[in-house]
Amino acid sequence: MQQAEMTQRENWRSRFGFIMAAAGSAIGLGNIWRFPYLTGEHGGSAFIIIYLLCIVFVGLGIMIGEFAVGRKTSLAAVGAYKTQNRSWTFAGALGVLSGFFIMGFYPVVGGWSLAYMVKSITGLLTVPEAIGDFFGAFVSAPVEPLFWMILYLAINVLIVAKGVAEGIEAAGKVLMPTLFLLLIFIIFRSVSLPGAGSGLSFLFMPDWSKVSGNTLLAALGQAFFSLSLGMGCMITYGSYLSKKENIPQNALTVVTMDTLAALMAAVAIFPALFAFGMEPAQGPGLVFVVVPTIFAQMGALGPLFSVIFFAALTVAALTSSLSLLEVVVAYLIDERKMERKKATYIASTVMAIMCILSSLSMGTLAGVKLFGVGFFDFFDILTDKIFLAIGGMLLAIFVGWFMKKEDLKNELTNDGTISFGLFELWYNLIKYVIPLAIFVVAFMGIAAIEQTSLMLFGIFIILALMVFSKKL
Ligand code: PHE
Repeated sequence: MQQAEMTQRENWRSRFGFIMAAAGSAIGLGNIWRFPYLTGEHGGSAFIIIYLLCIVFVGLGIMIGEFAVGRKTSLAAVGAYKTQNRSWTFAGALGVLSGFFIMGFYPVVGGWSLAYMVKSITGLLTVPEAIGDFFGAFVSAPVEPLFWMILYLAINVLIVAKGVAEGIEAAGKVLMPTLFLLLIFIIFRSVSLPGAGSGLSFLFMPDWSKVSGNTLLAALGQAFFSLSLGMGCMITYGSYLSKKENIPQNALTVVTMDTLAALMAAVAIFPALFAFGMEPAQGPGLVFVVVPTIFAQMGALGPLFSVIFFAALTVAALTSSLSLLEVVVAYLIDERKMERKKATYIASTVMAIMCILSSLSMGTLAGVKLFGVGFFDFFDILTDKIFLAIGGMLLAIFVGWFMKKEDLKNELTNDGTISFGLFELWYNLIKYVIPLAIFVVAFMGIAAIEQTSLMLFGIFIILALMVFSKKL
């Protein structure tokens, strides 16, 4: 018997608390850092349109599914699958592994954000033309980014080891709305710059010639990454959800907020980028170069706005990485019977080592390749382009084919007390359309991508998990 089954599961204190936690997990570096640079690399609006289709037809359905599985079983990812069907343990294990690997690069970027918060007032903005070079030099340095990464990770550890998130919740309640306000502010600055128009047409006039199988997979992977799906995070959050809550409605709210944040970030960045004559496909440095440049041109108040922006970005990142670390820690506590503090320290130590490798792969270790890519890309591509998409597909198959339709209907309508008019549509989506769509996109993506050996390695890991996870 699982311990959690015997004791009454703790619930979120309020609906607002749940929405904030789930949206806090969803909204993070994925929206503000990753979405804009992927949009830049994949040619702009065509990518955005495909991304939005992935959100509406795949992401929303999966989020409803994850919440339903979590609340029905009252267990986190591994336990939720395992209690329903033992041979599905591997799908939960894959989720834990995904969380673990994402934490192999996420804190590196969290560290950059933390550093930029401080650097905003120590000279980053003084020479606007040098901001791009500054970023390149900073991330490729051997020691300094490691310091910030460790600091960022340490904040995560402090919070998760305590098992309470009150401080971060309080900070989040102020800083998340601040982030939205600042984005609105930057949007106004950005679109009013001379030459901003070409940025807007880049965002709103699709150029379909850039779309390939790789674009589709990038958009799908980003949808999962940004919504924190395909790795059991939302299963875990759903397990704390009160039986009275309306799951489809909550899922819709979270998805809408997340998408809004991503689109706002893009509209904030691209007009300014084109106005400054910068390169849209510049990759991971995008937000760290364009936003400071905007602030640098604002005179005396620039540094202040910049500090607030990166503080808000750091907190947004924290509320996401906390949920990632928690997925791993919860697994060690629930299934390995480890004590919380010990679990947190062990997990984060291994994560720190992966992060050191990822950070160094931007400079010192640039020559070291794993399956053709550096460490940072290794953890990133493996999770975002393989594990999350496959994890989402497995969840859809599990819900559609291994759970009873009756049970799902009861879960989603709170035993018939509320209505979910689109139940049949959702059910058919998750049973047939979503698994097939993910399969096709993953297949096309794998065929189109350069890192074939990495893809095969990812699939090998999943197969290995299927074989060995019976012991988990
Ligand atoms: N959704 C988070 C972001 O956009 C990242 C994340 C992925 C968090 C998966 C939890 C699980 O930054």
